[in-house]
Amino acid sequence: MNKAIEFKNIKKAYGSQVILENFDFSVEKGDFVTIIGSSGSGKTTVLKMANGLVKADAGDIFINGENIRDKDMIELRRNIGYAIQGSVLFPHMTVEQNISYVPNLLNKKDKKRTREALGKWMEIVGLEEELKERYPAELSGGQQQRVGIARALAASPDILLMDEPFGAVDEITRGQLQNELQRIYAQTHITILFVTHDISEALKLGTKVLVMDQGKIQQYDVPEQILRSPATEFVKQLVERKCRTCIRV
Ligand SMILES: Nc1ncnc2c1ncn2[C@@H]1O[C@H](COP(=O)(O)OP(=O)(O)O)[C@@H](O)[C@H]1O
Ligand SMILES: [Mg+2]
Repeated sequence: MNKAIEFKNIKKAYGSQVILENFDFSVEKGDFVTIIGSSGSGKTTVLKMANGLVKADAGDIFINGENIRDKDMIELRRNIGYAIQGSVLFPHMTVEQNISYVPNLLNKKDKKRTREALGKWMEIVGLEEELKERYPAELSGGQQQRVGIARALAASPDILLMDEPFGAVDEITRGQLQNELQRIYAQTHITILFVTHDISEALKLGTKVLVMDQGKIQQYDVPEQILRSPATEFVKQLVERKCRTCIRV
């Protein structure tokens, strides 16, 4: 069993609006899959179905080979980190308390172990130690995003879901966060499913890229293939848009 995430024949509608139909998609263990598509194409819905925040109307979703229908949701989410755009930190907690939240739950009274986990994850995401006493409101956008990633990783999940996590930060910080995430991925061999609306980001980070439009898979392939042989007009346009920005930069 080498699939971390598998969607089988998924249907999802909100009221009369069908978002996904006959949706089949899977992520191999250890892959870093980026999902790119126009706004409203169902990217967030796909991500939220993987950790049970949104329920499919029909079809099956398997996480590490287990149908999530039969799983306890708390149990499921313990294994799946979730990081989203903007500050999702607990505002009344310091950086230390935010990152230690899950390790505290897991380690109970072993304070040393929790402290070690805190130090390790702050270092990995590139946060200076003296920031640990600060509250989220006292951090820059990039720092908040790093705390969010450290908090998601501190639970040692097998799978990390990220929904446009770098959408709200400036270009330079975004580049740094992308590089850090690549390093974390190389170090941990975690499975990552990462939503973005930026084709350059999708191609830079993904070992595979899923291109979606209006709930339909346009192409699911390695970045080189997406660039070299776009499967549909939609993908072609996306890639050409990227190349125009390449020329400008
Ligand atoms: N809770 C909801 N209730 C009704 N419609 C929703 C809900 N969540 C998302 N939608 C609609 O479903 C479509 C897909 O949304 P979403 O998955 O968030 O797209 P994306 O993340 O690709 O922008 C959009 O048209 C959105 O307005
Ligand atoms: Mg979205």
